[in-house]
Amino acid sequence: MAGLDDRAMATRAPALKTVRTVAGLRRAVAAWHQHRDTVALVPTMGALHAGHLALVARAKRLADRVVVSLFVNPAQFGPHEDFARYPRDEAADRAKLRAAGADLLYAPPVAEIYPPGFATTVSVGALAERLDGIHRPGHFAGVATVVAKLLIEAGADIACFGEKDYQQLQVIKRLARDLDIPTRILGVPTVRERDGLALSSRNAYLSAAERAVAPILHRVLIGTGARIREGMPVDEALARGTDAITGAGFRAVDYLAAVDAATLEPLARLDRPGRLLVAAWLGRTRLIDNGRLTPSSRAPAPYNGRPRSGTRRRAGSSR
Ligand code: PAJ
Repeated sequence: MAGLDDRAMATRAPALKTVRTVAGLRRAVAAWHQHRDTVALVPTMGALHAGHLALVARAKRLADRVVVSLFVNPAQFGPHEDFARYPRDEAADRAKLRAAGADLLYAPPVAEIYPPGFATTVSVGALAERLDGIHRPGHFAGVATVVAKLLIEAGADIACFGEKDYQQLQVIKRLARDLDIPTRILGVPTVRERDGLALSSRNAYLSAAERAVAPILHRVLIGTGARIREGMPVDEALARGTDAITGAGFRAVDYLAAVDAATLEPLARLDRPGRLLVAAWLGRTRLIDNGRLTPSSRAPAPYNGRPRSGTRRRAGSSR
């Protein structure tokens, strides 16, 4: 019976209620909505870190009740990717969520999300076909399908996603709009280590030597953004950034791209809000990051091949 599945797991402290079925999730959310409580959903794949918990904190400020989903979605991993070794520790995640004040954990088994006969795929088109869409074929179809399901299953008023996965965030905004899913999709700024490395469950794969090199990604995003704002041609700034990443010890750069912040189309000139996106391999680990690329408030002086000194820049180069 669903009621047994849905009973909170026994722990010493007051347990965070856990449901493992769509029916259990719907019952909990319906009860809250009946009491006019608003509900926020935070989808995750677990191995929770401070970036995930920032989403929970934001969700708590915006809604009366917070549901966190934990599902390592096989459909968004390629055949040679890290699905099998992806870090999993539900007990530790539950403790973190309890401390963060989440109200409900939705942790369905694979068969609940993809029962026998499951056949539908959500495909988001152009937005999902560039950048990571090229380097991880099928990835965004897997993400879009599971996120569409989670949004429909939860029926939350708001759902929080990290800007850390910037292309994913745009894909999810698009699918919610296109499929008339009424949940408001909110982007939350990237949480970083003190040295700038964006928090990621995959950082756990890094050796000590790789971990020391990893923050270069964030520094390159800041430096590349500054050069473009100072008037360096976009292609030249991107080439220099790519060289800096490989020069620091990354094995390969899948892309370092300057794109329109909403459509993710390549940006040849900084004439509208943009975004710098990067994906690169450090040993066996693929890291992604991104940063804001906003036109400076003043027209740039003609580029003379050297960075301008003494120029006051607006903050907000990168988040
Ligand atoms: P996961 O990688 O677990 O991330 C869950 C959410 O946390 C995503 O919205 C992601 O952007 C956000 N996040 C990760 N690192 C962050 C950081 N350093 N700062 C702020 N937010 C951060 O992304 C996924 O899972 C999956 O693709 C999912 C959306 C759950 C669908 O399966």
